[in-house]
Amino acid sequence: MSEPARAVKLSCRNLWKIYGPQAASYGATGKLPAGERAEIRQQLQATNHLAAVIDASFDVHVGEIFVIMGLSGSGKSTLVRCLSRLVEPTSGEVLLDGDDLLKATAPQLIELRRRAMGMVFQNFGLLPHLTVLDNEAFPREMIELVGLHGRERSFPHQLSGGQQQRVGIARSLAVGPALWFLDEPFSALDPLIRRQMQDEFLRLQRMLHKTIVFITHDILEAFRLADRIAIMREGEVIQIGRPADIVLNPADGYVAEFTEDVPLMRIISAGDLVRAGHIAAKANGHFADHVPESTKLEDLVPRLAAGAAGFAVDGEDGRPMGGFEAAAVFDVLSRDRQRRKGR
Ligand SMILES: Nc1ncnc2c1ncn2[C@@H]1O[C@H](COP(=O)(O)OP(=O)(O)OP(=O)(O)O)[C@@H](O)[C@H]1O
Ligand SMILES: [Mg+2]
Repeated sequence: MSEPARAVKLSCRNLWKIYGPQAASYGATGKLPAGERAEIRQQLQATNHLAAVIDASFDVHVGEIFVIMGLSGSGKSTLVRCLSRLVEPTSGEVLLDGDDLLKATAPQLIELRRRAMGMVFQNFGLLPHLTVLDNEAFPREMIELVGLHGRERSFPHQLSGGQQQRVGIARSLAVGPALWFLDEPFSALDPLIRRQMQDEFLRLQRMLHKTIVFITHDILEAFRLADRIAIMREGEVIQIGRPADIVLNPADGYVAEFTEDVPLMRIISAGDLVRAGHIAAKANGHFADHVPESTKLEDLVPRLAAGAAGFAVDGEDGRPMGGFEAAAVFDVLSRDRQRRKGR
């Protein structure tokens, strides 16, 4: 089944960022290093250059959470800074709502940053002398939204870490721009609070439908939050896909290894199974049990245990997508086990 075409908010084409003494000349002359990636890196290294981003091309769709994931030093921050032009790309194109961001003048850029894009770097950076109300600087409904009603007059030091983070998130996503760049916003939090923040973030996003580029080096966070994920390695985007696509069809051994701890049962949904053409043979309506396409396999298992023979899957628009038998779920379960055994 083909994906419906989605409106594009932001895209980059053949984006490069080279650091080093003559980095600018690579862009100016249009002579980018060519050949195998390993060769390119070697060539550059020999002249004290480093390619932090190598030939990146992708679209970010309106209203999606697009996660960029990769190990430390893989180029995530550089890439996201190129997308917002906080860092000047060496070469390539960045299109924001179809307009070439790299052609924007300095005053236009300031205006764009003020109105069209928001940025959040590590830990949201609350201003310590402002109260919740001032820090958020947005309507009262937003305070209700993040569950801080009654704490409007509190200063950051009077709030718990988690509460502070909630102020930060709400402040960021509230009435501001439709496009957000978040660079490892939760990385300094302990696991429980981090999970709560992820839930909060998803809850807000379901109401606000922002377009979000979210950076993380935490694979489980990536898979929890993402509509789509781009995986980076040494400056290169090596795979882009929905979480289920990536775990079911990793582009190479690196991605497979990188994602082997991701629990398939929590990532793969009923809709993914139908899309993967997993056993859609049965006529729709054959199964009494209907589930929305977003239902995760872990939520189907208890229903199978309770006697369901399979499921008819309803699309987001309410229309029937197809169906599958219990065996399709067990197939994924056994794959998960195989992956772990292979380690
Ligand atoms: N201003 C700079 N000058 C030279 N090299 C840089 C500069 N900024 C980043 N780099 C290099 O570019 C590469 C990518 O760095 P970047 O900060 O984008 O990685 P990252 O994926 O965000 O890592 P982390 O997860 O640690 O934040 C690294 O090798 C880094 O040392
Ligand atoms: Mg970084």
